[in-house]
Amino acid sequence: MATPQRAIFNGMGQNQWYVHLSRTDGADLGVIKSVLGDLRAACAAEDINLTLGIGPGLLPDLTDDVPDDFQSYVTIESEDGSGRQAKGTQEELLLWLNHDDKDKIWKAQYDARTALEGHMAVARETPTFIYGDSLDMTGFKDGTGNPADEDQPAAAIVPDGEAGAGGSHIIAQRWVHDLDSWNALSDEQQEKNFGRKKFPGIEKTETQEPYSHLSHVELREDGNHGNEGSDKRNEIARRSTPYAFHDGTVGLYFMAFCKDQAPLRERMRRMYGLDDCVRDAMTDYSDPASGSFYFAPSEETLDAITG
Ligand code: HEM
Repeated sequence: MATPQRAIFNGMGQNQWYVHLSRTDGADLGVIKSVLGDLRAACAAEDINLTLGIGPGLLPDLTDDVPDDFQSYVTIESEDGSGRQAKGTQEELLLWLNHDDKDKIWKAQYDARTALEGHMAVARETPTFIYGDSLDMTGFKDGTGNPADEDQPAAAIVPDGEAGAGGSHIIAQRWVHDLDSWNALSDEQQEKNFGRKKFPGIEKTETQEPYSHLSHVELREDGNHGNEGSDKRNEIARRSTPYAFHDGTVGLYFMAFCKDQAPLRERMRRMYGLDDCVRDAMTDYSDPASGSFYFAPSEETLDAITG
């Protein structure tokens, strides 16, 4: 049985670091593989959770173990005249490191990106952190509706017998919050927007507005999304955390895993009001400045790549 990358299910450290890179002219694949091997060894030695995500442009150059329906992330634009969009910024490689100690993850990613110079360039990076009891900066607990721990592998990991077995599709987006506008809303309106109560409450609101976040992302078999009455379908395992930049920009780094990419695309299209639904109210208060899809190959496939 193929083994998923351990860090996906290991529980997150207090600090995370996301680094997105792409190849530069004259890149040597041998060097890239060797650096990734060194990074895996360094993280194992320091007990750092490392997830390697590889983009659609790079994965076929590294292995034949490529999942079906693995697409690049393209910008998703609302068609309701609001101009809201989820920007696509696809790159070739994602390093996701997390640990309680920020210095450890800084050093590991610094050594890797330095060794990759001349072969891969950093396109963007975001250090993030766990806020309180896994809160989003909007004041809502994030992660409540995740599948139970024991059910997450079935939702997130490509089953044995399929291309990419043991691997997982990743979506990574840096959402920028307009907290001033959000905080001007009443608690009642905020709760309607998410469809859940504000922390310390976590229960669902009695009804789901058509614009609520849950009516866009809590997919149900009977099509009555966000509402009880039928089983959930195409669940995902989320690992999102907040970030705060020195220029005052704040928001949520959305990170999620799924055994197929299509349910990630479906949720994004719904949030932006495509496919016959109104736009998710969340997109009035937050928009992604970046977005990309990657695939986290199994440990065995990574072993074959990095030697
Ligand atoms: C600004 C960005 C976002 C914020 C602040 C946010 C916040 C939240 C909150 C507070 C909840 C309710 C509690 C929970 O179950 O975790 C939630 C649920 C959820 N969100 Fe988001 N979210 C964001 C973007 C997204 C995106 C982009 C997706 C998918 C592509 C997504 C998928 C989900 C799912 C699947 C659930 C759980 C639904 C269920 O209970 O089955 N979210 N989100």
